[in-house]
Amino acid sequence: MPLVNSKEMFEHAYKDGYAIGAFNCNNMEIVQAIVDAAKECNSPVILQVSAGARKYAKPAYLKKLVEAAVEDTGLPIVLHLDHGADFEICKDCIDNGFTSVMIDCSSKPFEENIAETRRVVEYAHAHVPYVTVEAELGTLAGVEDDVKVEFGKSSYTRPEDVEEFVKRTGCDSLAIAIGTSHGAYKFKPEQCTRDPETGILLPPPLRFDILDEVSKRLPGFPIVLHGSSSVNQEYVKIINDHGGKLVDAVGVPEQQLRRAAGLAVCKINIDSDLRLAMTAGIRQHFEEHPDHFDPRQYVGDGRAYVKQLVAHKIRDVVGSADVLDPVTKEFK
Ligand code: G3H
Ligand code: 13P
Ligand code: ZN
Repeated sequence: MPLVNSKEMFEHAYKDGYAIGAFNCNNMEIVQAIVDAAKECNSPVILQVSAGARKYAKPAYLKKLVEAAVEDTGLPIVLHLDHGADFEICKDCIDNGFTSVMIDCSSKPFEENIAETRRVVEYAHAHVPYVTVEAELGTLAGVEDDVKVEFGKSSYTRPEDVEEFVKRTGCDSLAIAIGTSHGAYKFKPEQCTRDPETGILLPPPLRFDILDEVSKRLPGFPIVLHGSSSVNQEYVKIINDHGGKLVDAVGVPEQQLRRAAGLAVCKINIDSDLRLAMTAGIRQHFEEHPDHFDPRQYVGDGRAYVKQLVAHKIRDVVGSADVLDPVTKEFK
């Protein structure tokens, strides 16, 4: 099966109350960990590439890695551009085999966001085969590429804007801001309460009222959540127990993401949790085997941790396990 766009995946996900995990990839081991987990779980998957990933690994390498993943697993896989800043980067990805792109003009004024998104949609939809386009309304807090949005400067999506935006742009899915945030430090301690027993921060709940209002206004339309790492504390503990220093790292609780996946949310973006799992595996390896110097040993452990994490996300968070026939890899 060749790379696919996200259209059919989202139709199934919406109808059957789950989401597709969109995992960021930056190197071979991360790609392998994600698709091995997806294969084990009989799940479709989105592999997404940021501008930072393109700079780090070079687009040609990433594309070949993803093609190898398709050949190796036979799964339906989307190759998606994450946070495309303008028409040019989206066009470059479309011209070079991406099956889905995100145009992120969420920090621009409404009319500018509409105009640039519309331009990308026209180009992507004219492409054969059709390339799907994700757009964004509202601003998440946190860090993505070199852009840091201060906590006070983030803004929730205004439900009253979404119908006009989708109608005028023709986008295929919409990322909204309901309280998720990029990175491993999603909330400041003063935004959270602290569990008196464990000392772990408990974040404020997501704004499900906004998600409900948006989905009422856009029936059947796929919604996307960025910034959806949960910063699983078992990995933070492994990192900190093996020489790391991550203080008050906190994410979005997994049960809230599971709930969102059962509603209109069809794509859930996870990057930071993979970074934490990789770091935990490598740190632990180094401490347990100070004599090792073969990267296959320690990066191999990092890859195994990422695979375990992704399998958990697919089964217990986005809920897309076993939606594919294990033999044909078609949706059941
Ligand atoms: O949304 C941001 C992603 O986590 C990508 O991060 O720009 O460091 O690759 P990056
Ligand atoms: P996290 O930083 O929460 O993993 O979010 C990743 C993301 O939204 C990529 O676009
Ligand atoms: Zn994002």
